[in-house]
Amino acid sequence: MKVVITGAHGKVGRAATQALLDAGHDVLATDLTRPGFEREPEGTARYQMADLTDSGEAFAVIRGADAVVHAAAIPEPTGNPPQVVFRTNLMATFNVLEAAVRFGAKRFVNISSETVPGFFFPEREFLPDYAPVDELHPVHPQDPYALSKHFGEQLMNAAVERSDIRCISLRPSWVQNEDNYEQNLGPQVRDAAVLSPNLWSYIDVYDLADAIVLATESELPGHEVFYIASPDNVGGRNFGEILHQYYGDKIELRPTSRPDASGISSEKAQRMLGWAPKRSWRDYLDADGKALSRD
Ligand SMILES: NC(=O)c1ccc[n+]([C@@H]2O[C@H](COP(=O)([O-])OP(=O)(O)OC[C@H]3O[C@@H](n4cnc5c(N)ncnc54)[C@H](O)[C@@H]3O)[C@@H](O)[C@H]2O)c1
Repeated sequence: MKVVITGAHGKVGRAATQALLDAGHDVLATDLTRPGFEREPEGTARYQMADLTDSGEAFAVIRGADAVVHAAAIPEPTGNPPQVVFRTNLMATFNVLEAAVRFGAKRFVNISSETVPGFFFPEREFLPDYAPVDELHPVHPQDPYALSKHFGEQLMNAAVERSDIRCISLRPSWVQNEDNYEQNLGPQVRDAAVLSPNLWSYIDVYDLADAIVLATESELPGHEVFYIASPDNVGGRNFGEILHQYYGDKIELRPTSRPDASGISSEKAQRMLGWAPKRSWRDYLDADGKALSRD
């Protein structure tokens, strides 16, 4: 398939671009980075620069795509003014989806976020009703980032109502790669009292890239939402015990698939996409949260 991937030079986009190429797709990568005029190494995706908040630029890069993976966004709400986060994320999603619908793309993979129910950046306390959290959990976003992702999922609902496009929204947990496992997760591996705002969940970027390829190639109709989180929790602790220790009875404990389960369930993605996560923080960090040698 001819696949256009947005946000291709970001943390998620780089891994997903390579995974799509490895799966044999004809990939057009797009981002805000200015292109050079050098010959690219063999096997590199073609690249076009586009600011996707401009609908003309979005239409120019999406034209001809069989499938679109939309990963471009400002990935959190604290480093930019709120309206910039909200406008950028929502308008980029609107423009890219609008172009995909008008040009007759068949599949749209929308990179949403675990934050949609209210996790991670609430201004007032948010605790989930139950854990592990799944796709049926009520949605109460407070911040401009989570709101932009929630509205992005609603745009997908509208797109499948008004056209034949098929949409999948992936809600990744906190994304980790070899450059940031230690910095991001090391403190929680050492001490579960370093409370994570998403119940000690995370996702390896290469497992996420596998899910993106499966979603791109999926025949599922309509719009489906999938959490994408590693099956284990950061630190590998007994999930029921740490949930009770740090949150008392405030969060209902639901059945888990394993003792060291994540606070977010990806059972639906495993069942409906055939996603089989293979990596763990243990492949990168020791029991003290220090990086293992890359050799
Ligand atoms: N990093 C995480 O932990 C995490 C977790 C859940 C969801 N996500 C989502 O995954 C996606 C990728 O995140 P990431 O971690 O790779 O972030 P990133 O910042 O590394 O990559 C995002 C890319 O989007 C591009 N971009 C931003 N504004 C743009 C615009 N107006 N036009 C075109 N491109 C634009 C940026 O240049 C950047 O390369 C985002 O949608 C993010 O919200 C990330």
